[in-house]
Amino acid sequence: MAETLTITDNRTGKTYEIPIKDGAIRATDLRQLKTDGEDAGLVTYDPAFMNTASCRSRITFIDGDKGILEYRGYPIEQLAQHSTYLETAYLIIFGELPTAAQLATWTRDITLHTMLHENIKKLMEGFQYDAHPMGVFLSTVGAFSTFYPDAKKIFDEQSRKKQIHRLVAKVPTIAAYAFRHSIGRPYVYPDNDLSFAGNFLNMLFKMTELKYHVNPVLERALEVLFILHADHEQNCSTSAMRGIGSSHVDPYSAMAGAAAALYGPLHGGANEAVLRMLAEIGSLDQVPAFIKRVKSGDGRLMGFGHRVYKSYDPRAKIIKQTADQVFEVTGKNPLLDIALELERIALQDEYFVSRKLYPNVDFYSGLIYQAMGFPVTMFPVLFAIPRTAGWIAQWEEMLLDPDQKIARPRQLYQGAGRRDYIPIPKR
Ligand code: ACO
Repeated sequence: MAETLTITDNRTGKTYEIPIKDGAIRATDLRQLKTDGEDAGLVTYDPAFMNTASCRSRITFIDGDKGILEYRGYPIEQLAQHSTYLETAYLIIFGELPTAAQLATWTRDITLHTMLHENIKKLMEGFQYDAHPMGVFLSTVGAFSTFYPDAKKIFDEQSRKKQIHRLVAKVPTIAAYAFRHSIGRPYVYPDNDLSFAGNFLNMLFKMTELKYHVNPVLERALEVLFILHADHEQNCSTSAMRGIGSSHVDPYSAMAGAAAALYGPLHGGANEAVLRMLAEIGSLDQVPAFIKRVKSGDGRLMGFGHRVYKSYDPRAKIIKQTADQVFEVTGKNPLLDIALELERIALQDEYFVSRKLYPNVDFYSGLIYQAMGFPVTMFPVLFAIPRTAGWIAQWEEMLLDPDQKIARPRQLYQGAGRRDYIPIPKR
């Protein structure tokens, strides 16, 4: 028997059978609940989309209560252990793990697209010396739309594929140029002999040596961090990517908007906020006072809590292990002890326990990035590089989904009723 929801409208006394499919009712089915033939029908009110599925997706599965994260069905723990970022990006974008031949072709296609047009470099040179790298990153991604006008052919599969190669391949180069620009060092061109993460480290940190030598521990740590950040279903920036893309704009313009969403301190800016918070706390003996302040409503414990995870974020667990490996190479980040103490106290404090607030992916990632030599302003950029795979996959899924239209929520208008214009002297 088909599942339905029976609704009795007390305003009219009428009863409705609303179909339930895949655990959801269609919000548009509520339109039939009218008080008279004229009104537009019932709408749902869901600020911040707390309980609204905006799409069907086959990309990422999260069970927030159980702390499960899977890309295309593969558990994040297995991918972090065995995969590389490029292989995971392929999985996320194309739906299956690549064969050896597919991976070789994909890796070659990405490697051949890592260079930036020289005019992009000139454009980036125009930014102020102290420009935030994330501002530079999102502006440059947006500017790509003017360099690749063929990207407007969004329903041409070959064109989409080309933009996918360009985006996945060029975001590390933009990120590295933005970083080098911010510290006044010359840009380093990509080195095709190196891995995706290795080349990124080369473009960031190479000085006068002829060949950059990649530290394999840091290279692997970066791969793992990239894998963990590659997608996270319908989060704020991904919803922005889908929402902007639903107007059928080119993917570069849509991704500039997604990157802007990621820039915010409640999203990709959180690990930057974590480090600032740890530095502000300053020493272990200040931790209890800080926790007390947060509990009184003065500020938040950054890197804690998540809209979806109501248990330990599975990515945070993996990051904690990666941190130990990185610190063996770089030396321990002195802020680590404060972070561990915050976590220890928070995990047994009634305030955090009752609200199911656990460390999220950002709690430890900033400590690793800082130990690897990244300034905090680079943190959201480091998030945007791998999330590019997720954004593109979600964008393409949205484009090809016959259920989707231009995204356009409704509102509950609460403003003034109709009134006549008053000339300035009479106001
Ligand atoms: N510190 C202290 N209290 C918190 C925190 C926190 N980090 N997060 C939530 N709370 C409290 C809220 O004050 C609220 O308490 P109340 O019920 O007494 O009012 C309760 O927990 C529920 O919080 P909401 O804000 O309703 O939760 P929401 O799902 O809207 O927010 C968010 C999720 C934005 C991640 C939030 O937990 C937060 O601000 N965390 C800190 C920022 C952060 O780490 N962001 C990174 C998220 S992961 C990512 O984007 C990659």
